[in-house]
Amino acid sequence: MAATIIDGNRIAAEIREELKKEVAIMKEKHGLVPGLVTILVGKNPASISYVTGKQKTAHDLGFYSVQDDQPEDIPEDALLALVEKYNADPKVHGILVQLPLPRHINEKRVLNAIDPDKDVDCFHPVNIGRLVIGGSEARFSPCTPAGIKELIMRSGVPTSGAEVVVVGRSNIVGKPIAIMMMQKAKGANATVTVVHTGSRDMEAHCKRADILIVAAGVPGLVKPEWIKPGACVIDVGVNRVGEKKSEKTGRMVPILKGDVDFEAAKEIAGSITPVPGGVGPMTITMLMKNTVLSAGLSIE
Ligand code: GUN
Repeated sequence: MAATIIDGNRIAAEIREELKKEVAIMKEKHGLVPGLVTILVGKNPASISYVTGKQKTAHDLGFYSVQDDQPEDIPEDALLALVEKYNADPKVHGILVQLPLPRHINEKRVLNAIDPDKDVDCFHPVNIGRLVIGGSEARFSPCTPAGIKELIMRSGVPTSGAEVVVVGRSNIVGKPIAIMMMQKAKGANATVTVVHTGSRDMEAHCKRADILIVAAGVPGLVKPEWIKPGACVIDVGVNRVGEKKSEKTGRMVPILKGDVDFEAAKEIAGSITPVPGGVGPMTITMLMKNTVLSAGLSIE
């Protein structure tokens, strides 16, 4: 039987509706409006597009939102001073510095200058530490892993005691999702294995997975025969494999392919995310969720 397709666009829209209600209650009860600042350095077209999407979503949800554009040659000290300014601004609950930054700027220094209580990307070592400890220590979750967890939970896939195999060990997806899925918590409590380029037999591990999360950045890495029949497959890969003419606009647009051979895998898996339209739409929504959480915590 063909797999259920996990629709990231639908689930993201559902979460945004929930957030809208939360924002309205916050305004009514506490006179508080969640505030998000996105700082963009330079004119990288992909970064402009990402930041525009974040600002549009923040605006649609009724946030106080600021798009702060800075020139490519901004000195590192000036960027650090800007971060400090927003750290001290009580209207701002979330600060996002869009990556990548120009080469003359030490990315780590800038990210670590963000107040951990406003670090809605969850890139700061303090927040990663809190995530690892879990329970009441945990605050934000990194956006893509948080989106993955929501997709799994809202699709009704059981996680407690399940075999979760994560392919990839990046700091922004592989490592944090592995930590999150092993925590003693709702939508988690799984037995987690992380496989990577140094793993001896990636296929054997994948074949055991009840939930297979693939974030390797290698198009078609996971073959259909690696998938356990009925497994939940989450494909985080977004690989540009060419270009095609858009039917809507007539302009050339990238052809995107995941890390999993979707067409063949959907005949074996129980549920699967498509690319595009799976994990992708969740990331910005989870950034908004972190900002609402941060605003809520500022009341306490
Ligand atoms: N550049 C690409 N993705 C991201 C992201 O999630 N956060 C930030 N800050 N920069 C990015």
